[in-house]
Amino acid sequence: MIKTLRENPIKDKTVILRVDYNVSIVDDRIMSTKKIDSSFETIDNLIDNNNKIIILSHFGRVKTESDKEKNSLYPVYQYIKSLNKYNISFSDEFMGEKLEKLVSSLKPKDILIVENTRYADLNGKLESSCDAQLSLYWAGLADYFVLDAFGSMHRSHASVTGIPKHLPSRIGFLVEKELLNLDKLIKNPSHPFIVLMGGSKLDDKIGLIYSLIEKADYILLGGGLANTFLKAAGFKIGASLYSKESLEKAKMIIDEYKDKIVLPKDVICSPSYNSDVALKDLDEIESDDVIGDIGPKAIKNYSRIITSANTIFVNGTVGIYEKKYFSNGTQEILNIIAGTNALKIVGGGDAASAIEKFGYEDKVDFVSTGGGATLKYIADETLPGIEAIEKSNESFFE
Ligand code: 3PG
Repeated sequence: MIKTLRENPIKDKTVILRVDYNVSIVDDRIMSTKKIDSSFETIDNLIDNNNKIIILSHFGRVKTESDKEKNSLYPVYQYIKSLNKYNISFSDEFMGEKLEKLVSSLKPKDILIVENTRYADLNGKLESSCDAQLSLYWAGLADYFVLDAFGSMHRSHASVTGIPKHLPSRIGFLVEKELLNLDKLIKNPSHPFIVLMGGSKLDDKIGLIYSLIEKADYILLGGGLANTFLKAAGFKIGASLYSKESLEKAKMIIDEYKDKIVLPKDVICSPSYNSDVALKDLDEIESDDVIGDIGPKAIKNYSRIITSANTIFVNGTVGIYEKKYFSNGTQEILNIIAGTNALKIVGGGDAASAIEKFGYEDKVDFVSTGGGATLKYIADETLPGIEAIEKSNESFFE
């Protein structure tokens, strides 16, 4: 059994709290603070128990020196500070003397947010390769480790699975809630079980369709995922987004499971993403067309399947819902899902933002903060982060 912070509180210690503050920031504005706000239950518990808190999180991907500025956690720190709820400071270094001084000056109930753990990827992918030295270094700053970064638990990174090798560990309140809700999908879901998938990170998702397809009755596809499958099935997709790398996999999935994979019959497209949109059947798509949404025939077909479902998992949107002229399919499909009596669970950044944008948050049973992690948990029924905490719980006798 994995140790939860709820059942095994930590008192009067220095705690490393790994959260997922990987939020979308546009024009200096945090688009949704849901992931950040979801960490407060764990933070409040640690504060009530008189702990000093060191927060670690990744933010975006850091591959070059110039990626650092746009992937700083500083705006997240500013947001939490602006709530005037916590005594919080920021370390612009993820390791080194400056960080160590800030840690040693922490008082009970203080919080220190450390700069993006993926800054450590610049010199040899130390974070992403779960570097042993870096894991040991971070662990050396604290007495305990709490993993509350549900959205990162599919990553075997130093700040996720490396630190718990060296510290007694717990899962936080958010991770506990996520697992409890997602277990409703994987432990005997009531059939028909329908999965709606779309959005970005195509290669990650196509890999996971394989594991999901045995559990689900239908997988309805949208966005770049649908385009990849349409191309694999021999349709023209013009200049639309698709994954070249995953074409072969998509072909294999269609060959084996063509009755379970549902693709749009008609689409809304435009030349080069402009607002000059047209409704087209699949055989009418031209070379400069970009598919941005599903059409009315597809909406009707998807809705027929959705209304028959007893369990629905939404991971992604069926179109580029951020653009007004491509948003109709996503809004209609979410509206149909919201109106069903099925158990409705939403996972993934795009799907969660769309649900928030169109105002359906209260009409679904649970909105997961994870994307890839949610899918991987449903597919594998475990995650590297869960296994790391379980191993840590076996190794440390407290
Ligand atoms: C997410 O946003 O899905 C998580 O923060 C994971 O991000 P990653 O795919 O960059 O690891």
